[in-house]
Amino acid sequence: MKRLNKTLLAAAAMMAASTSLASAAKLTFYCSAQEDWCQSMARGFEEATGIDVNMTRKSSGETFAQIKAESSNPKGDVWWGGTGDPHLQAAEEDLTEPYVSKMRGELNDWAISQASSAADKTIGIYSGALGYGYNADLLKANNLPEPKCWKDLTKPEYKGHVQMANPNSSGTAYTTLATMVQLFGEDGGFDFMKSLHKNINQYTKSGSAPIKAAGRGENTIGIVFMHDAVKQAVSGFPIKVVAPCEGTGYEIGSMSIIKGARNLDEAKQFYDWALSAKAQTRALEVKAYQVPSNKGAETSPSAPDLSLIKLIDYDFKKYGSSAERKRLLKKWDDEVSVLPQ
Ligand code: G6P
Repeated sequence: MKRLNKTLLAAAAMMAASTSLASAAKLTFYCSAQEDWCQSMARGFEEATGIDVNMTRKSSGETFAQIKAESSNPKGDVWWGGTGDPHLQAAEEDLTEPYVSKMRGELNDWAISQASSAADKTIGIYSGALGYGYNADLLKANNLPEPKCWKDLTKPEYKGHVQMANPNSSGTAYTTLATMVQLFGEDGGFDFMKSLHKNINQYTKSGSAPIKAAGRGENTIGIVFMHDAVKQAVSGFPIKVVAPCEGTGYEIGSMSIIKGARNLDEAKQFYDWALSAKAQTRALEVKAYQVPSNKGAETSPSAPDLSLIKLIDYDFKKYGSSAERKRLLKKWDDEVSVLPQ
């Protein structure tokens, strides 16, 4: 009898274990911020909830393309990070799901207006200004003057010294293209991109790669978000950060729930958690110096102060629209990327 009880108990324990395995909560997380921040968010959510996270980091434009390609059989649940424009395009193309989080009351207005312009299919999680950084040692070694403006980067002496990402894959680089069109007008903006092209040594896939290369001494100037340049500087690399004299554009880094998410409840749980002050304060552990959307999240004195930077009135509705993003990228492919260098 004792023996039978033992066997029954063991069988029951095994069954319980296998049911809990089968129903173990999980989340497929597409991330478009910096790899170390993506890892920190994945681990932080696992610790907070016990939900297993499977995270993939890809640039903003690449993630948009992946979600679109998978739309008939969605594999991802939530897309966190990356510039807002492709999130807005995803909303317009009905690739993402509306959700009104109970955390909204804790957020800055700019985060909510991102949601309002997209029928609640996306929301702002951070903000940051575009600019560039340079390796001060390399600049000196090459006898180059300190660049201060966007237009400086098109001067012939910087030939082969400038790096930026490809605007098709990278949200940072698309923000650059859209910023130039807004700063200098359509023709002026494309003239700028064409002159800049002559000085570009490489178009990278990821937005922050050019400043990481500059940190390592493999590139002189990287066009990136200013916070990405600050991260290299505070990590001890000889990087100087520039807020260009003409003024500059900025991003509203965003988050969206993928339409048809297999783990919708977990996606909503992640969404609420990611909007909390506690989750957003994790950014500081990985030196991510964006402006957090939760008013209560901690910030660093090293973070660029957006109130001191000449920001353009970036038209997110227009440049995040499907038609405009497609048009600008095609024009850049056809008229800029094909030019000889
Ligand atoms: C970096 C920045 C983020 C930005 C992201 C876009 O990670 O820190 O603020 O949203 O780049 O990445 P992408 O590779 O699409 O340019």
